[in-house]
Amino acid sequence: MIIGTATMPNTLPLLEAEYPAAARLLSPLGRRAELPLGIPQQSAQAAGCERQATIGQITAGSGLPLTLPALASHFTELDPKSAFLYAPTAGIRALREAWKVRMNLPGTSLPVVTNGMSHGLSIVADLFSSPEHPIVLAQPYWDNYETIWHMRNGAEMLDFPFFGADRRFNLGGMSDRLDALRGPATLLLNFPNNPTGYAPTHAEAEAIVARIHAHPHPLAVLCDDAYAGLYFSEACYGKSLFGALAAGADRERLLVCKVDGATKELVFFGGRVGFLTFSAEGAVGEALVEKASAVLRGTISSVNAPAQAAVLAALRDPNLVAQQEEVFGVLRRRYTALSSALLAEGVDALPFNSGCFAMLQLRPDQDAQEVRMRLIREQSTGVIAVPSANALRVAFCSIDEVDIPDLVRRVAAVVNG
Ligand SMILES: Cc1ncc(COP(=O)(O)O)c(C=O)c1O
Repeated sequence: MIIGTATMPNTLPLLEAEYPAAARLLSPLGRRAELPLGIPQQSAQAAGCERQATIGQITAGSGLPLTLPALASHFTELDPKSAFLYAPTAGIRALREAWKVRMNLPGTSLPVVTNGMSHGLSIVADLFSSPEHPIVLAQPYWDNYETIWHMRNGAEMLDFPFFGADRRFNLGGMSDRLDALRGPATLLLNFPNNPTGYAPTHAEAEAIVARIHAHPHPLAVLCDDAYAGLYFSEACYGKSLFGALAAGADRERLLVCKVDGATKELVFFGGRVGFLTFSAEGAVGEALVEKASAVLRGTISSVNAPAQAAVLAALRDPNLVAQQEEVFGVLRRRYTALSSALLAEGVDALPFNSGCFAMLQLRPDQDAQEVRMRLIREQSTGVIAVPSANALRVAFCSIDEVDIPDLVRRVAAVVNG
């Protein structure tokens, strides 16, 4: 195969000169990741040409898609070019720009569009993790982290208990894990958290940021902001730590990555539209975007175009914010109903103030899987077992407010029995 053997300019020397931490953090795959001067790139360079005979898309000849009405009739509100032709490797440019405007953070790259947030996390893992580049994260954690970092990338999972003995975020545990590092590593922060439903207070957020900024070795901090915006308590810091971390990032030591997306923020679970953003703008940001794009090109090639076009249309819709606030109101009422019901039934809940979940602490003589199975058998109630914390995770985001007291009564009948 001859096409694409010539490579685009190598971005590694630029990163080594301008963002030494990023260069040192790269895994062997991350170091190799470069976009070839391949078909999408050659096609983009020919974008203004009168005759476009580059990319292998079946078009009407005029640059417009040649669509089948049986399919196109389901996408009538979307721009046909955006919905039916390939999206660029890094995503539809206008969508990337609109998401950046929405984030409103200076000094960051344009986001890369990913196939949902799991894919964004997996690109970060591919670029910065390996058997020699471990990941530090709070335990319990979302189960897919294990699949992404340990199973796929062979990275060591250096975990610490999410809550300390005082049932507050375990800054000491995080700090001890960071203290033990001697080389490049990733730190994963997921707030609002899955499974605990906890986000840091202002004081906790400041302390986390200060501890990270003081870390002496190259560190990639990954903010998994899947549940961005879902804060139910005034005490919460109430936004991603990405902005504060990126603002003070010393390029010799710290790279910050943000993964977020339409999955929860736009309640578009099946759409698979996520975003990956780096703490660098200009040519350095572009170099990191190119590395992410190379991994993306080598796996899924490009993200579902109609879903991207739909998210772009939603971001341009003046009613979007009001609609999101309506959903937020529904979740807030469910959160309040759950907090009251747990108190009324005397169920031991760990602190939760945000997101979609609450975690219920079981007694040492109880087994999380057994309790979960009893809830299915005896109470026709499904929850998730969290054995590492001997706890149950309750997804209040998927229970109607009026059913929450009944849910808690059923849980209490087994848990407090
Ligand atoms: C913490 C966390 N991160 C990422 C994701 C993945 O989101 P997506 O469905 O967009 O891949 C989830 C989904 O449940 C999640 O809970």
